[in-house]
Amino acid sequence: MFQDDNSVITSLAQTWRNKPAKHQPCYEDPKHLKEVTDYLRTMPPLVFAGECDQLKGQIANAQKGEAFMLFGGDCAESFEHTTADRIGNKVRTILQMAVILTYGASVPVVKIGRMAGQYSKPRSSDTETIDGVTLPSYLGDSINGFDFTPESRLHDPERLTKAYLYSVSTLNLVRAFTRGGFADLRNVHKWNQGFVSNPAYERYENMASEINRAMKFVHASGIEGPELKQTQIYSSHEALVIPFEEALMRIDSRTRTPYFTSAHFLWIGERTRGIDDAHVEMFSHVRNPIGVKLGPTTNPDDVLRLIDKLNPDGEEGRLTFITRMGAGTIREAMPKIVEAAKKDGRPVTWVSDPMHGNTIKASNGIKTRRFNDIMDEIRGFFEVHEVLGTHPGGIHVELTGDDVTEILGGSEEILEDTLAERYESLVDPRLNHQQSLEVAYQIAEMLREFHL
Ligand code: PEP
Ligand code: CO
Repeated sequence: MFQDDNSVITSLAQTWRNKPAKHQPCYEDPKHLKEVTDYLRTMPPLVFAGECDQLKGQIANAQKGEAFMLFGGDCAESFEHTTADRIGNKVRTILQMAVILTYGASVPVVKIGRMAGQYSKPRSSDTETIDGVTLPSYLGDSINGFDFTPESRLHDPERLTKAYLYSVSTLNLVRAFTRGGFADLRNVHKWNQGFVSNPAYERYENMASEINRAMKFVHASGIEGPELKQTQIYSSHEALVIPFEEALMRIDSRTRTPYFTSAHFLWIGERTRGIDDAHVEMFSHVRNPIGVKLGPTTNPDDVLRLIDKLNPDGEEGRLTFITRMGAGTIREAMPKIVEAAKKDGRPVTWVSDPMHGNTIKASNGIKTRRFNDIMDEIRGFFEVHEVLGTHPGGIHVELTGDDVTEILGGSEEILEDTLAERYESLVDPRLNHQQSLEVAYQIAEMLREFHL
């Protein structure tokens, strides 16, 4: 990066440094943070601006109903779980879901991992108390450690460097998996084999065998080409830690405009989307495709002000609203905000996050979600768009490719007393591999039912 670029970003940064930033880490030594961010400023970008623009074009298609977006990955990635197996399982799950959805929607599926950078979390409480001991809450591996000890829970700027390096390593593997034959469409039908023993399989057998037949047809007809063997999974995360995202901001050499380069797509969380706050200000200066989470208390005016600030010129594919309303609330809370954006006329893409409005505590105190609530919120999302004549642009789910037991229900019937058997998430409960495929099959059915 040229010296000149650094000074452009530093002077831009004054606009958000003057505004309140919520949910930020607290470091004991500001000099230490500066050393880390100075180092990160010298490091290569994780993604290129050109790739971000390409994704923006694909999101513009989703906004028009000509593509469907699939976001998937952990609530919180951890350094410890950055292994080839776990990343491979997640990539495979996302690709399998994408095949099922492509079949249901008959449009391309834009695949975006909540991966390679999802290392920081806003928490509802600053502290956590266990057996009378109170320590700072776990805020994600880029801020502090999960272990419940004072040393581990200290906010440590060195973790930002680690987060950068783990992101590099994860993204490298994702790129290798999606470019190197792992994603070969002709192999995808084999991947379904694990699902055949699922009690739900019978219901989807027709669809699965139609997909198989289509695959075999492609194979037999000798159609070749990179489209069948390679695909692209873009990266995304919640841009929470302002000094980190700022240190990875770069000036695009082609257009001389600023981009976040820690991921292709970044979003602002429900807790940090205040219109006069630092996150919204920072996002207004970059050219990536971006998202904002919208919870059940969002009103039409919030939506219009966010459009004014984040996409004043109405660029297609630039702004995605990710609604996370709750199954019981979506049908009432969503129409007025979709209508407001529709009336405004500047394009926005609507994506459903059916996870974060449906978190509950099981009777044994474990944080979980019900599979049926997740599906009901997605159905509500489709219903609202059908009534309003707008497009459901995609879904955003927390998932893993592993066989965990974190979400209640699904055809394999995870019950309250089996939740603890394999509960590995550091923050929110995720769909396991089988539940993820089941979600994809059910959405594929909905996509057909609603003729979208
Ligand atoms: C999340 O995506 O993990 C999250 C914290 O979501 P939200 O900002 O919607 O609460
Ligand atoms: Co979460």
